[in-house]
Amino acid sequence: MKNFESVADVNQLGSLIQKGMNLKADPLQAEALGKGKTLVLLFFNPSLRTRLSTEKAGINLGMSVINMNAGQGWQLEFEDGKIMNMDKAEHIREAAAVISQYADIIGIRTFPSLTDRERDYSDFILHQFMRYASVPLISLESAIRHPLQSLADLITIEEHKTKARPKVVLSWAPHPRALPQAVSNSFLEWVNRTDAELVITHPEGYDLAPQFSHGIPVTYKQEEAFEGADFIYTKNWSSFNQYGKILSQDPSWMITPEKMALTDNGKFMHCLPVRRNVVVADGVLDSDASLVIHQANNRTYAAQAVLHEILSTL
Ligand code: CP
Repeated sequence: MKNFESVADVNQLGSLIQKGMNLKADPLQAEALGKGKTLVLLFFNPSLRTRLSTEKAGINLGMSVINMNAGQGWQLEFEDGKIMNMDKAEHIREAAAVISQYADIIGIRTFPSLTDRERDYSDFILHQFMRYASVPLISLESAIRHPLQSLADLITIEEHKTKARPKVVLSWAPHPRALPQAVSNSFLEWVNRTDAELVITHPEGYDLAPQFSHGIPVTYKQEEAFEGADFIYTKNWSSFNQYGKILSQDPSWMITPEKMALTDNGKFMHCLPVRRNVVVADGVLDSDASLVIHQANNRTYAAQAVLHEILSTL
């Protein structure tokens, strides 16, 4: 693995999930692997889980870790050929090349504009970093994907599934702000590489990008989708077709104990952060059905598995 931005970078998904579970059982087993190596993590927007879990993953592998809030006061120009006589003080060509002098692996969290769909879906910022960095790069969430979250989610499903082919439902839920589609896009492409039965439910107008949702059944009837489900993966996302818009805040789409009762003793999943009693009722989040803290814990071992793969090639 050279770079890590999507499930397409993974040769053997089952092996990577097992590697994460194996590292979880003994997190310091490979602490010699990263000795003398530096991980630089750049965050262009805030993070609790990704920042701490990836830092811990690097430390568990013996790496030195440097974190940088890249979104505040550091105005980078990402376009080539620009006359830089405005607010942008440094070009990505120099910035990525310079960071590569200090880092053996770079992690980057970028973000979508939610206004320019073409640019967002080209993952322009992430790819400009990849283009001009000379060391491996891992996505800590991009404009359109969140691969470390998805790997942690698959580890969590593997740990909790009771059937060889569980029914996994991706359900939209309301939210007061316009949120990216990245977690949902990524979840679909990662679960699609497993044997799970995958169903999407959302209100009309919330279809996800065809490159991610192609071939997956969609229903606008949330309760119908929940019937017999083993995992309810909940996430808000803004509209893809009316790009970045909030089309509904219908509270009847919130996840409740009554809806969870329609499942086959199903588990509730969410990447966090989550708005209580907007996205999901307290009665679900505080129940034994909730896997959200397990998911957050598995973020460390997902990151450790990916870093382990890349370190093994250096
Ligand atoms: N799930 C997730 O990526 O959380 P953070 O935004 O806190 O990193």
